[in-house]
Amino acid sequence: MSTTTASSPTVRIGIIGGGLMGREAASAFGRWFTLEQFPVKVELTAVCDVQPAILEWFAQIPSVRLRTQKHTELLASKDVDVVYVAVPHNLHESMYLDVLRSGKDLLAEKPFGLDPASAGRIRDEAKRLGRFVRVSSEFPFLPGVSRVFQMASSGALGRILQVRVGFLHSSDLDPTKPINWKRMNKFCGEIGVMGDLGMHVAHIPLRLGWKPKTVYAQLQKIHTERPDGKGGMAQCDTWNNAMLHTTFEAGGESVPMTLEMKRMAPTETNTWYIEILGTDRGARFSTKEPKTLWTYRRDKEQWWEKTDLGFTPQFKTITGGIFEVGFPDILQQMWAAYVAERSGNLGARFGCATPDEAVASQQIWSAALESQRTQSVVRL
Ligand SMILES: NC(=O)c1ccc[n+]([C@@H]2O[C@H](COP(=O)([O-])OP(=O)(O)OC[C@H]3O[C@@H](n4cnc5c(N)ncnc54)[C@H](O)[C@@H]3O)[C@@H](O)[C@H]2O)c1
Repeated sequence: MSTTTASSPTVRIGIIGGGLMGREAASAFGRWFTLEQFPVKVELTAVCDVQPAILEWFAQIPSVRLRTQKHTELLASKDVDVVYVAVPHNLHESMYLDVLRSGKDLLAEKPFGLDPASAGRIRDEAKRLGRFVRVSSEFPFLPGVSRVFQMASSGALGRILQVRVGFLHSSDLDPTKPINWKRMNKFCGEIGVMGDLGMHVAHIPLRLGWKPKTVYAQLQKIHTERPDGKGGMAQCDTWNNAMLHTTFEAGGESVPMTLEMKRMAPTETNTWYIEILGTDRGARFSTKEPKTLWTYRRDKEQWWEKTDLGFTPQFKTITGGIFEVGFPDILQQMWAAYVAERSGNLGARFGCATPDEAVASQQIWSAALESQRTQSVVRL
């Protein structure tokens, strides 16, 4: 790769949905110069949101030349090469298809439609039209997660004994928290918390080829109504907690894996964790200790070793190697992986979640719903 220069190619990006994640993406683009020796520049040129106050927020970014409430206007712009869509889940399929048919590439948000059929339709249309599409999932870009993935994919762990992956929030424990679209099936689909948090949990197992063959799900709703923000109460019909007990095949053996997605996990604020235990070695990482990797090796005695990884992302930045890594950093790393892969510069690095992985994740959530309905183990 060459050092970024004035002549580096520039990818022009449009955002549809400038809420929580749309603004995080803008922050990642705004600090693009912190990436060292990165071959492609990015420029945020257009933003679409139905809320005028959000469009106003984007007025402070000089490169944004188009601010519109109509996504079709953004898609008609000749100033946009790639579109990032971060809108409620019920809009994913129609908006993603609109992006693909407008001739642009797409970084889609999870869960990539509401069910396996809609995820499949998006994937197939992208393939038919030859568009470059990836799905947002940033935790694999943490240095600690990257090391766990490398250990697992290298075969160093021996025979896999068990896997646990989870993503935990606690904010929904508060029954006075007003409802929003993520708590209503009509906006986020029947999969509820699995659509909200699940791609993050499934991404590493799926990349390792560990797709569940069986699923037994325990789903919980808990608070079934919430303040509607207008003085009344609204129905909160989504699944809030999901514990999936699954098995996958590795080395000809069935391996147990739990996938845990919760919005009511006491004390947890965006805790993502993974633990993979093998007969020879094991690895464990949690965002509770964001620079710490835990590993063990088999010996006469066994013990967990703790390593401080510091700031060692896969795309080097100006940040010092001993500093701590945070959410905005891994989001920028994810975008760097998207842009690098799109331009043929990813090499052996970890790439963003693929449409096939999004479809596979939806198949797991669909099996979980069936398991909950039938109170039985479902085969995939
Ligand atoms: N990768 C992650 O870590 C992460 C974290 C949170 C959310 N998400 C995903 O990002 C997406 C958006 O979630 P969010 O938390 O940013 O939601 P949000 O509610 O904060 O933002 C959604 C935005 O979409 C806008 N919008 C709604 N309808 C629109 C339309 N027709 N045209 C244009 N804009 C429209 C809303 O006005 C709002 O500003 C979801 O798919 C969610 O699952 C991903």
